[in-house]
Amino acid sequence: MHPERESPSPHSLDLIISGKIYVEGSLIDAAVGIEDEKIAWIGKLSRAPFAERVIQASEKTLVLPGMVDMHVHMRDLNESDKEDWYTGTLSALAGGVTFVADMPNNQPPARNLEILKAKEEVASKRALVDYGFYAGVPFQSRELERMAAFGLVGLKIYPEDQLREELVDVLREAKRLGLLAVAHAEDPLLLNLAGRLESNSFESHSLRRPAEGEALAIRRLALLSSRIGFRLHLTHLSSAAALRAALKAKLKVGASIDTAIHYLLLDSSTVEKFKGIAKVNPPLRKERDVRLMQRALKSGVLDAIVTDHAPHKLEEKIAENYDRVPAGFPGLELCLPLLMTLVARCEVPLSVLELYSSSPAKLLGVPKGRIKVGSDADLVLMDLGERWRVRGGDMKSKAKYTPFEGFEVVGKVRKVFVRGVQALEDEDVLVNEGYGRRYWSRSENSFFGP
Ligand code: DOR
Ligand code: ZN
Repeated sequence: MHPERESPSPHSLDLIISGKIYVEGSLIDAAVGIEDEKIAWIGKLSRAPFAERVIQASEKTLVLPGMVDMHVHMRDLNESDKEDWYTGTLSALAGGVTFVADMPNNQPPARNLEILKAKEEVASKRALVDYGFYAGVPFQSRELERMAAFGLVGLKIYPEDQLREELVDVLREAKRLGLLAVAHAEDPLLLNLAGRLESNSFESHSLRRPAEGEALAIRRLALLSSRIGFRLHLTHLSSAAALRAALKAKLKVGASIDTAIHYLLLDSSTVEKFKGIAKVNPPLRKERDVRLMQRALKSGVLDAIVTDHAPHKLEEKIAENYDRVPAGFPGLELCLPLLMTLVARCEVPLSVLELYSSSPAKLLGVPKGRIKVGSDADLVLMDLGERWRVRGGDMKSKAKYTPFEGFEVVGKVRKVFVRGVQALEDEDVLVNEGYGRRYWSRSENSFFGP
């Protein structure tokens, strides 16, 4: 390590982890020192201050920052049969994810402070990793201020919200509060019409929710952002058409964009094979859409990768009637190994991990996802010596199925540290339920938060 990169030595440390450390896209042979939940020191092991515990990672192990997933659905409350904060965050731990941002569309939807508090009541007792909440579009814009004062990582806009009278006022409020507005961009009118035009079969799902609908909604949201000035984030782009519109929105209003891991790896042939298990909104698209998404990943235009971890019950997902099957599937345990597999195949550089760590952390305004002095000591030891086959039945999520079934992946998460405390050792959870702590955005232009 370059001596100038070595930080000043504290007197003593709680823990040192030494090995191949991932720092901003590259690997360095170094040691990371942890003190009081934070990364306190980075330097050569030989120059390290005294530490109570020293872990030497093996040759084939990478020391990574804890991953940050800015788009998950933890369910719980009235949907705890699908997932709860314990199983959802256990799934996160197993996937090397130490921070999750939870969407508001669980039952009941988080559109007011009371429900937000009810979610926190449950999450604070069950979560194993740290987390934040998005607000759903409230019925009155003032409600957003109340929720933001309690603490949010953003506002989520669903397709139906584009038809609501309150939207403009709520977006003005989001701008005032400096909140990130994360949009599921699909046009509700086109969804309605195309749903009547096309047959209701799993194979027609992508025609019933056409890519043009994504592009339309993106253009509308970009226009709103240009007039109102709120921070627009376009989530889970699935198609070439969406990507083209989103790149324009990036240029025009500085929108940030993400895709979900499944749009980078799965196309409509997976729907033919897995039927309802692979039903997701937006739908899996054609092979050429996947290729373009991969090119976007390589060219550096994406700001984040997400899982859109959306667990449903297996019985619901295997129903034969298309209309009865809810969209979405779990992903938290698989995203990091899938990305690592692309890296191992030399298809993408290791620095794509920034899109699942520091970059979403920055968008959300939380001190996560970086191995850097002052950041939260969220660290993942991942063993690249191990190859394994994805089996939905082995997953920690309550939703024990995946359209990635049978994929061979590289890299097993062995140890996970959340704020300096070891939370996972292979299969064993080492922290109590409720160890996870709630975070909210802190940025220069936002004034809220306790
Ligand atoms: O497939 C999806 N599932 N897309 C969404 O937008 C919602 C999600 C869910 O909550 O199940
Ligand atoms: Zn979602």
